[in-house]
Amino acid sequence: MTDVDVIKVTGGVRLAGEVGVVGAKNSALKLMAVALLASGQSEITNVPRITDIALMGEVLRRLGATVDFEADVVRVDVPERLHPEADYDLVRRLRASICVLGPLLARCGEVRVAHPGGDAIGSRGLDMHVNGLAKMGADITGEHGFVVASAPSGLHGARISLDFPSVGATENLVMAAVLARGTTVIDNVAREPEIVDICEMLNAMGAQIEGAGSAELTVHGVTSLNPVTHATIGDRIVAGTWAFGAAMTQGDVTVLGCDPRWLEIALDKIAQAGGQIDHGEDSFRVRMPDRPRAVDIRTLPFPGFATDLLPMAIGMASVAEGMSMITENIFDGRFMFAEELKRLGADIKIEGHHAMVRGRERLSCAEVTASDIRAGAGLVIAGLCGDGITTVRAVHHIDRGYPNFVDDLRTLGVEVIRAETPADPVYTL
Ligand code: EPU
Repeated sequence: MTDVDVIKVTGGVRLAGEVGVVGAKNSALKLMAVALLASGQSEITNVPRITDIALMGEVLRRLGATVDFEADVVRVDVPERLHPEADYDLVRRLRASICVLGPLLARCGEVRVAHPGGDAIGSRGLDMHVNGLAKMGADITGEHGFVVASAPSGLHGARISLDFPSVGATENLVMAAVLARGTTVIDNVAREPEIVDICEMLNAMGAQIEGAGSAELTVHGVTSLNPVTHATIGDRIVAGTWAFGAAMTQGDVTVLGCDPRWLEIALDKIAQAGGQIDHGEDSFRVRMPDRPRAVDIRTLPFPGFATDLLPMAIGMASVAEGMSMITENIFDGRFMFAEELKRLGADIKIEGHHAMVRGRERLSCAEVTASDIRAGAGLVIAGLCGDGITTVRAVHHIDRGYPNFVDDLRTLGVEVIRAETPADPVYTL
């Protein structure tokens, strides 16, 4: 039986100081897939050293690429011919590997990617990916747990309207469209900064994409792309985590390496709760002089409040003065986190996709378990408002998205240790 890692934090602390964030996980993962679209070596810089990036490296290796990591740089050397199959073994561990679907179909004319299934934050459909690729001429089926697609005579331009601005579907369709014959217009696309980052890398490679950051993308297909060097944008979710950490602990934190415009609504909510925000160009400072006041928050696609910051929003509400209503509109399983937060004494009532949270002055320390990346970080941050030592189990989830998490907490004044604890024993009959 192997041991499992836990993080133990001592509550009653005020986060204070400066913390830097590096590149966004949800950009870097997709930029690595973008590299598949050109033969030769692309270099992606400002890449976070997290387990999801290592997994993506392995996905690309199994497709035939050579992948090297050196500090914050990833070099992806792509051969002329790729092996267009991503198996379940990796896809189940890294749902984001579904983003190789579009590039592989564009490059190879065929692809088999394991269906990733749902996960702890909810059911996660693929219908928009599949329908969009079908409109571009792909023949797509599902068989034996795989999404299987082919387009022997190549993809062609199409008019596609997404039912919902899905991040993953937008990315897959753009990556397929850049090498398609003719022009593809995709309406109701995701507008996240990470989408803009991907389109910028693609355009630097020679793609012709217009409208990145707006609700409609126009992609004029080209015949080939060239490898490039591209720097990943800063991680707005990691930055937002520290912003809420400052707000919840009545702290004073300066975050470096992230454009505050990507967190406009989140920072505005913290300001409504009584926070003082200073905006820099690639940095911001959050101060919360008193106990935060209750504010209502609802998650929405960008530029709305990010679903990945929902645990932090519930965390702030659980120590705020008054009652907050927090509404989740993107993933049906996000409130699993709230159930765990109740173990820390949070007063939360869930009705459908709404959480009614009555704030209390202090949470009570306990042992809790992370169910996903953001829930893990949210529980550690909530533990800072506890009356003693909170232990968060299953912190390998945090390693998937937060580089240097424990060191950053220490920098901000937290008494924190990472330790090993025996895994659950297996009982047999
Ligand atoms: N959806 C469908 N059909 C589709 C595609 C999506 O029904 O064809 C639904 C999903 O089931 C979900 C909603 O649409 O309910 C949003 O899904 P979306 O495609 O926008 O999300 P994603 O691409 O699967 C990315 C991030 C998530 C982030 C969401 C929303 C990556 C690797 N993941 O997921 O990040 O929460 O966008 O912003 O980019 C995280 O980093 O912890 C994380 C979960």
